[in-house]
Amino acid sequence: MQSAQASRNVFDALAGEGRIFRSRGVLSSDYVPEDFPHRNDEIDQVAHILRPTLEGSRPSNILVYGQTGTGKTAVARYICDQLKDKVTADGGAIHTAHINCKRVNTPYGVLANIGQTYTTNWEDSIPHTGWRLEQVYAALCRKAEEAGGIALVVLDEVDALVKKSGDEVLYHLTGINADLGNARMSLIGISNDTKFTTFLDPRVKSRLGEESLTFPPYNALQLRDILEQRAGQAFHEGALDSQVLSLCAGRAAQEHGDARKALDLLRIAAEMAERDGSQQVTVDYVNRAESMMEQDQVRKMVLQLPLQHKAVLASILANESQSRLDRQTTGDVYDTYYRMCNRFELDALTQRRIGGIISELDMQGVISARVVSLGRHGRTRFISTAVPFSELQPIISDDSFMSSALDLAADGHFVRPQLRLM
Ligand SMILES: Nc1ncnc2c1ncn2[C@@H]1O[C@H](COP(=O)(O)OP(=O)(O)OP(=O)(O)O)[C@@H](O)[C@H]1O
Ligand SMILES: [Mg+2]
Repeated sequence: MQSAQASRNVFDALAGEGRIFRSRGVLSSDYVPEDFPHRNDEIDQVAHILRPTLEGSRPSNILVYGQTGTGKTAVARYICDQLKDKVTADGGAIHTAHINCKRVNTPYGVLANIGQTYTTNWEDSIPHTGWRLEQVYAALCRKAEEAGGIALVVLDEVDALVKKSGDEVLYHLTGINADLGNARMSLIGISNDTKFTTFLDPRVKSRLGEESLTFPPYNALQLRDILEQRAGQAFHEGALDSQVLSLCAGRAAQEHGDARKALDLLRIAAEMAERDGSQQVTVDYVNRAESMMEQDQVRKMVLQLPLQHKAVLASILANESQSRLDRQTTGDVYDTYYRMCNRFELDALTQRRIGGIISELDMQGVISARVVSLGRHGRTRFISTAVPFSELQPIISDDSFMSSALDLAADGHFVRPQLRLM
């Protein structure tokens, strides 16, 4: 016998929804638009630098700087695709690689990624371990020579590679053209840390930065144009309240002109509206989306703190919740922290180091440490949490160390008896 359920499809009820999105993918992080409002100058500059590729010559290496969400990755992908299309249409040979050095941050990984643009059997012919870097590099040169043509290699977030593995692989890659006869290679390094080149060997620094340019942050009006272009493709007509785009643009402009933040805000607000079965994305959804994004940020930051930082944060929370101490000093925090370390067999740092950790947590916005004058007794810091406990609680319950520390604190451990009486 067929049950009533079998004749029903769980998606039937959902099929009527979807009055908001026309094409959701247009707002996804890896979508590369065909147009980049307010990046024409930068695109022109990069295109000019890469122009020699069309004549089979090697273009200069380029360093691209810019804060987060200024379009570096998307523009680099777009230009590489355009160049590849043009060179291929003209019958030339070009190999392109876009390497995210946050994910691929070992010399071997970088060389393997470039090698794979020349040959499909790189992984089979080059062992994962056992070869010295020079051997892998020599193998890459052989493959490049066999294939010929120009390779354009984008090293995105290149500072992450340098921080993790030093500049040895960049030393090889920036000098590779001297070891090649038939083939050529050019590099585009992308970074939002303008200072990372101070850690480079001077030769690598000058070879990698033959040309350099900076993508400036967007202002609110520019962000609005970017959103408008995307929204036209992403949403059905009338799906957005007239204030929504300006609001998303304004909020993202306050945060160093980040186009990713503006687009995420719009996408999340629209998803919330859709889930509610609403006809329109309103200002209220944007506000809700923003507070959800902020909470996600706090969650990520707190859960990624090193253990000592977690112990300090847990101590502040324990003091606040157990002794209603809303004006703790560094000494109060240290007292609780020290007891916590004993209990968890953690090495207790000095009070001075804990003072430093308190300043870091203050800078990250999870606590506030206010310097106050005590008159002739000098100055001290009053420390309190900067995020409501109700927001921190669900985050802390996902962290085994902090949640057991606070459970023990609730049972009366750690906090000094005289504090508890207050
Ligand atoms: N001028 C623009 N026009 C259209 N979309 C843009 C523009 N600038 C940025 N974007 C979009 O904003 C988002 C963020 O851009 P992108 O990832 O290129 O930033 P980024 O500079 O690489 O940031 P990060 O340093 O954090 O990696 C992407 O979805 C991108 O398509
Ligand atoms: Mg990027």
